[in-house]
Amino acid sequence: MILQKPLVHGRLQLKSRLVIPPMATQSSEHDLPGRATIAHYQKMAGNPLAGLLFTEHHYIDMQGKANPYQLSFASDKVIPYQQKLTAAVRAVNPELRFFAQINHAGINTSSYITGEKMVSASALSTGSGTSRALPAEEILQLEEKFAAAARRVKEAGYDGVEIHAAHGYLLNQFYSPLTNYRTDAYGPQNIETRLRFLTETIAAVRRAVGADFPVAVRLGGCDYMESGSTIEDAVRAAKILSSLDIDLLDLSGGLHIYTRPGHSEAGWFADMTTAVKAATSLPVILTGGVRTPQQAEELLQRKAADLIGVGRAMLRNPAWGVDA
Ligand SMILES: Cc1cc2nc3c(=O)[nH]c(=O)nc-3n(C[C@H](O)[C@H](O)[C@H](O)COP(=O)(O)O)c2cc1C
Repeated sequence: MILQKPLVHGRLQLKSRLVIPPMATQSSEHDLPGRATIAHYQKMAGNPLAGLLFTEHHYIDMQGKANPYQLSFASDKVIPYQQKLTAAVRAVNPELRFFAQINHAGINTSSYITGEKMVSASALSTGSGTSRALPAEEILQLEEKFAAAARRVKEAGYDGVEIHAAHGYLLNQFYSPLTNYRTDAYGPQNIETRLRFLTETIAAVRRAVGADFPVAVRLGGCDYMESGSTIEDAVRAAKILSSLDIDLLDLSGGLHIYTRPGHSEAGWFADMTTAVKAATSLPVILTGGVRTPQQAEELLQRKAADLIGVGRAMLRNPAWGVDA
């Protein structure tokens, strides 16, 4: 089975092609991993087939906190608590690679949670209020906050960091033409400007973590919405990202989050990931709707991706695939 074959790509060495994707547990205690958080990740790490486990998203700054129980990488104070989590996971499964995801929610939160007016690429309105457009100097400050969070991820003992640029959060709000109405160098005029915040963040993160530490990007490549980002955009974006110093491209949806309207088949983003995989040498992760090992194997065999994420099926059965 391809699913059980190792993947070696530069800094990335995974013992299999099975990925447990980021899934928010809402289990933090004062924004730190609590006993329930540690128990959850130990349970996931107990799957002997998995090669890569992601944490849920962590906020990089209070302004970008997505929900009251979100975990934090916004301060050095979290490092010793996060070290307990990485040690607990490593004790269960030393061969598993464990990456932490970092995020800024942008307008995808509320002022009740962050304590300040929401920010985004543009002045937007949602059910939870309006946002102000980030000025360029604040974008640069947030890039440094992503970098500081990534440095903390490394110091906490993780094997890699993932920058969240999917599911309608801040970096995705810059990438999607549906939420970016800017007129400056971060505007929607072309794919480079839509990606500029992300590409500058990647450079800042790389400076902060050094040359040896794996960096993944979760990109909401396609909105699957009228006038939104397209599969062609995802291919162009992947070419740009693959010219940067990153290790892994984790593709998911954009403003529709991780679902795709009208689709429930295993690997519902396979049309996007197949096109991206053919256009880049970066390893590509496909996640969404995979329920059985046979489905994962079939997607790998038809070169839809290099790695397959299994989320909710793994939550339902942490021994997923073991008896297959
Ligand atoms: C409860 C829950 C929480 C999630 N939290 C995150 C998250 O923190 N970051 C992220 O990138 N995706 C998150 N996702 C999306 C998953 O990573 C994955 O893309 C999605 O569940 C689809 O895969 P599946 O059909 O195998 O479950 C979450 C999904 C669920 C169900």
